Amino acid sequence: MISKSTIQKINDEARVEDVVGEFVMLKKRGANLLGLCPFHNEKTPSFNVNPARNIYKCFGCGKAGGPIQFLIDYQQLSYPDALKYLAKKYNIEIEEDEQTDEDKQKEQEKHNLVESIHIANAAAQKFFTDYMLQNENGKIGLAYFKERGFLNHTIEKFQLGFAPEGYDVFTKHALKEGFQLEVLKKAGLTSPKENSTVDFFRNRVMFPIHNMTGKVVGFGGRIMIKDEKAPKYVNTPESEVYLKSKILYGGYFAKNEIRKKDECLLVEGYTDVISLHQAGMENSVSSSGTSLTVDQIRLIKRITPNITMLYDGDAAGIKAALRGTDLILEEGMNVRVVVLPDAEDPDSYVKKVGSEAFLQFIQRNRKDVILFKASLFAAEAKHDPIKKSELIRDIVESIAKIPDNIHRSVYVKECSQLFEIQEQILITEVNKLRRKKANDQKTAENREVVQPKDSKQDQLPDSFHQEQFNQASSNLHILEKDIIRILIEFGSWKTGEEEDAETVAAYVLNDLDGLEMETDRYRMMFDLVKREFLSGNVHEEKFYTANEDEKVTSIAIELLTQPYSLSDNWWQKYKIVLPDKKLMFVKDIQSACIRFKQFKNIAELKKIEAKLKEVTDETELIKLMKLHKLFIEQKKEFAKTVGNVIYRPTT
Ligand code: CTP
Ligand code: MN
Repeated sequence: MISKSTIQKINDEARVEDVVGEFVMLKKRGANLLGLCPFHNEKTPSFNVNPARNIYKCFGCGKAGGPIQFLIDYQQLSYPDALKYLAKKYNIEIEEDEQTDEDKQKEQEKHNLVESIHIANAAAQKFFTDYMLQNENGKIGLAYFKERGFLNHTIEKFQLGFAPEGYDVFTKHALKEGFQLEVLKKAGLTSPKENSTVDFFRNRVMFPIHNMTGKVVGFGGRIMIKDEKAPKYVNTPESEVYLKSKILYGGYFAKNEIRKKDECLLVEGYTDVISLHQAGMENSVSSSGTSLTVDQIRLIKRITPNITMLYDGDAAGIKAALRGTDLILEEGMNVRVVVLPDAEDPDSYVKKVGSEAFLQFIQRNRKDVILFKASLFAAEAKHDPIKKSELIRDIVESIAKIPDNIHRSVYVKECSQLFEIQEQILITEVNKLRRKKANDQKTAENREVVQPKDSKQDQLPDSFHQEQFNQASSNLHILEKDIIRILIEFGSWKTGEEEDAETVAAYVLNDLDGLEMETDRYRMMFDLVKREFLSGNVHEEKFYTANEDEKVTSIAIELLTQPYSLSDNWWQKYKIVLPDKKLMFVKDIQSACIRFKQFKNIAELKKIEAKLKEVTDETELIKLMKLHKLFIEQKKEFAKTVGNVIYRPTT
């Protein structure tokens, strides 16, 4: 393990502009540097490098980090490798920490297992391919692929193979090669059976599944004949290295072409991917039988915002296509759908008509998903008001999921024409859904406070401060965010001119003593600041933006590169021109703390009131009433202070 002090040195020395500058052309723009984002495709630069903070952030795709993170994300280095790279670049000598033997062993074991599974998978792939090409009994597999029209270079590229028919031909071979049975089992290549073991894949043609860096992490094995009793495909069970939801079949072979074409073709099966690649559409991937997951969508989103889904023309195909689309819309990506002629899948259709006609078919028939949905059912619904309103509801739901305003309004316009329905009605509906969603999210974030598990929330009549509470609750995570941002950015600053003025961190921590943050990520940060403070440390922002804990780093960078919500909400909203920055900064802090306490106070009051409604024991009742009075007084106090601290507009 690289020692803490070495990591510290590396963090001190490494300059984000040097490291990023090695890979990205950067131009000076004010105090910052600007370039084309290396993580997504763009024509106007939105990739920002901030030397003062030693961080970068892309305002297009959101990628952000420091020098180490850049190497991890862009060069796909591991954390230790990124450190080694920087140490070399800046001539820093690496000190290794002494690990206990037990630590070492555990790490080694975990590392070894993953590494061993990778090696076993690579060996299995080679075995299946060799068996197909060299063994008499394997030729049947090659014949199958040839029969399906796969050419030699395609078979080679996708490393296709054949798993022998015997009981444990592969396992025996692997054991002889020195693989441990335990590893073969963990890799999903060998299964236990009664008192012995058996090959997981038998008498099937083999499709290796690669991760994004090209390592084989699993296999799909297809039966060669139609058999009602046996599954068409068997797939590697989930393992240490194979998480289905995070793998795109073909992703490794497609990523460059997806970037170049700025579009990803999404199909259903292994054979569809292979046939399309062979026909020159090398930007094709598949989710391999599972319905599309958010993780898979994000893998694509790193490369392009454009997805075109190619689906079978039957009803099941269309249903499957539509299921995944809302998830994609929610990620802010563009989805288009192509429905193939009845009973064809991309594999069969491209073989039938050839690649040129296939491409033309895509160009002509691809439809934006929302308009596709609309047109699909429009005819059917035209004369049936109930169907029509159901359809509109469905489409409005999809539109509401799109994060971008302009995008949404284009769809609203199109749909209003298509359905001959007033635009304003659609807008109202879309906004209703979006508000509901925003509220649901916030309540989820604050659930612990809003709904203590034992309170019968629904049966309570509105209390007189219910509305205030709701308002405060919707602002809670913003409040917490601002406080954390203040602590990161100004924590080590002084609150006044005097020599012995306390630090901002001290002020905030004292002022909020005993209070907890509700939002998980901010509570984690708050606790970190507190812990450090109690052991005598008040850190500058660099401590957080280049923290050893990746989560801390990413939250810190996110907060520092966002507009200041407190200022936005208050100082700007009320058009206050502040005499100087210093005043604004201290007022900001006071205001954030007071409003946070005010929120907590109202939440507490609500809890007490809920209890008051249920309590039967008299002493308990009196206790609660006293407490209630205390909190009401506090509440009034807060209201007064807030009025004092927050300048009201004079108009
Ligand atoms: N699939 C699976 N298990 C099955 C059936 C299907 O895992 N029993 C997955 C496979 O990833 C398959 C995809 O779902 O590639 C699509 O299924 P299907 O269209 O039936 O298979 P194809 O890939 O089209 O195979 P073929 O062209 O050989 O029929
Ligand atoms: Mn098929």
